[in-house]
Amino acid sequence: MPAQAAQILDGKTLAQKIQQELKEQIPILEARIGRPPGLAVLMVGDNPASAAYVRNKERACAKVGIASFGKHFSTEISQEELEQAIAQLNQDERVDGILVQLPLSEHLDAVAALQKISPDKDADGLHPLNLGKLVRSEWGLRSCTPAGVMRLLEEYAIPIPGKQVVVVGRSILVGKPLALMLLEKNATVTIAHSRTQDLTNVCRQADILVAAVGKAGIITAEMVKPGAVVVDVGINRVETDEGKSRLVGDVNFDSVAEVAKYITPVPGGIGPMTVAMLLQNTVESYIQTNK
Ligand SMILES: NC(=O)c1ccc[n+]([C@@H]2O[C@H](COP(=O)([O-])OP(=O)(O)OC[C@H]3O[C@@H](n4cnc5c(N)ncnc54)[C@H](OP(=O)(O)O)[C@@H]3O)[C@@H](O)[C@H]2O)c1
Repeated sequence: MPAQAAQILDGKTLAQKIQQELKEQIPILEARIGRPPGLAVLMVGDNPASAAYVRNKERACAKVGIASFGKHFSTEISQEELEQAIAQLNQDERVDGILVQLPLSEHLDAVAALQKISPDKDADGLHPLNLGKLVRSEWGLRSCTPAGVMRLLEEYAIPIPGKQVVVVGRSILVGKPLALMLLEKNATVTIAHSRTQDLTNVCRQADILVAAVGKAGIITAEMVKPGAVVVDVGINRVETDEGKSRLVGDVNFDSVAEVAKYITPVPGGIGPMTVAMLLQNTVESYIQTNK
């Protein structure tokens, strides 16, 4: 088996370090403010992947001392009822962060629901006001997955200014906000998507290549410039030969690790960083409202 050359960008360890820092910071803040920070995760229906993500987030909250005010609704909930629940949480002084676990059932309008979240409590950074602030490079709550990518690159002192960065994927959740964050750090950013022609050649220009597509192994070694930094945001469940399932990214890890300088694993890369950024956003809004 050929040796893996790339160094791992270890999101799991960094996420644990961030959580430890929050765990130490929260009791000090709580002594002054008189209550712990609070996060409300709203979930609709029984999608098993969403349920696992929600459990994971609530477990992480409990570990660091953030109170959870989660609400779980049946798929029958109406748009009006969902928005009423958000309005109540906006008023609830114990709650600093609100997030709606996506995707929602088809009859619900996720964009309209997200717009009802008070921008000050928008722990996922997806409210149009916070996205607009990002466009303007102003302070605001920032979307957790792209923020997690940036924090991980920072931790490993990966140079960004002037670098060619290719982000594959243009979703409002990951690709677009990440491209803006990289632009803010003076990268030369290309955003690729399903209509991009000659994706291999586009990707090969990248000093930093980010995959946020949702297709297992779409990024192969021939698409990676030798010595590039490769960040894999994708989370895909695939069947193994033994008939079990496992999580893999958008990057063909084994082959790309032979040409890249740095690479994020899946799991253990951007996934845990996303949760750490969610906790950090909640604590940040707790601090901001209790200055
Ligand atoms: N690690 C985490 O915590 C975390 C958080 C969020 C998401 N994710 C994962 O990240 C992945 C992307 O999530 P998302 O919400 O951004 O997905 P999404 O909304 O489905 O967007 C996928 C993007 O990939 C592009 N794309 C699809 N096929 C392509 C192809 N063959 N070549 C080039 N681009 C292609 C799409 O292009 P078009 O715009 O042209 O359709 C779209 O912009 C998923 O695997 C998701 O599970 C992980």
